[in-house]
Amino acid sequence: EKKLVVAIDGPAGAGKSTIAKLAAEELDYIYIDTGAMYRSVAWKFLQSKQDFSPELVSKLAAEMTITFKQEAKLNRVFVDGLEVTDEIRTLEVTEIVSKVSAVGAVREAMVAQQRRMGEAGGVVMDGRDIGTVVFPHADLKIFLTASAEERASRRYKEMLAKGMQVDLKQLQSDIEARDKQDCERKIAPLCCAEDAIFLDSSNMSIQEVASQILTLVQEH
Ligand code: C5P
Repeated sequence: EKKLVVAIDGPAGAGKSTIAKLAAEELDYIYIDTGAMYRSVAWKFLQSKQDFSPELVSKLAAEMTITFKQEAKLNRVFVDGLEVTDEIRTLEVTEIVSKVSAVGAVREAMVAQQRRMGEAGGVVMDGRDIGTVVFPHADLKIFLTASAEERASRRYKEMLAKGMQVDLKQLQSDIEARDKQDCERKIAPLCCAEDAIFLDSSNMSIQEVASQILTLVQEH
């Protein structure tokens, strides 16, 4: 049986990572969270305590090693051997990540690694530009979205469950701001590939979306 490359793109909070993780588990594929890679670069930049410049973040991105370790339900992330799984999810990182990911040389460094990780197939990769740039010939492309209200409310519940203090309205406007930056950037903007299957998960459960994707893989 051929091992496929499955690309899942979409805006923040559409449930991509949950779905991609589930689908990868079911298929016995590797799950690659490309957002975590851009978040790692943003984290590394914040650690440097220097002023933002495209040159600085490009240099950091080129020099750092990002690795994943899949453990049961947890996808652990390491930068130069140091675990950053939780550190890359902070508000500080979330606020700056779109600015970092808009830098061309940062994207080149990440895309090269993503292609290496996916070239043998048997991967579910989620992000913003997987079906358009990283793997334009992916076997299956999904564009997963949901209304901004629904995405904000999902994130809100997720963060509350983790004991984080958040404001729903603020969360929604942050999500909308990040969508705008990701969609309007010059290089590899977030958009639905022509040959992607468009899924609006606003009124679907995680299970429904996951099983729809599995069916699509099986039909391939
Ligand atoms: O998926 P997640 O929300 O963790 O992604 C964080 C940020 O990383 C996005 O807002 C976007 O700026 C960037 N990103 C990207 N290309 C990808 C994945 C993420 O530019 N393939």
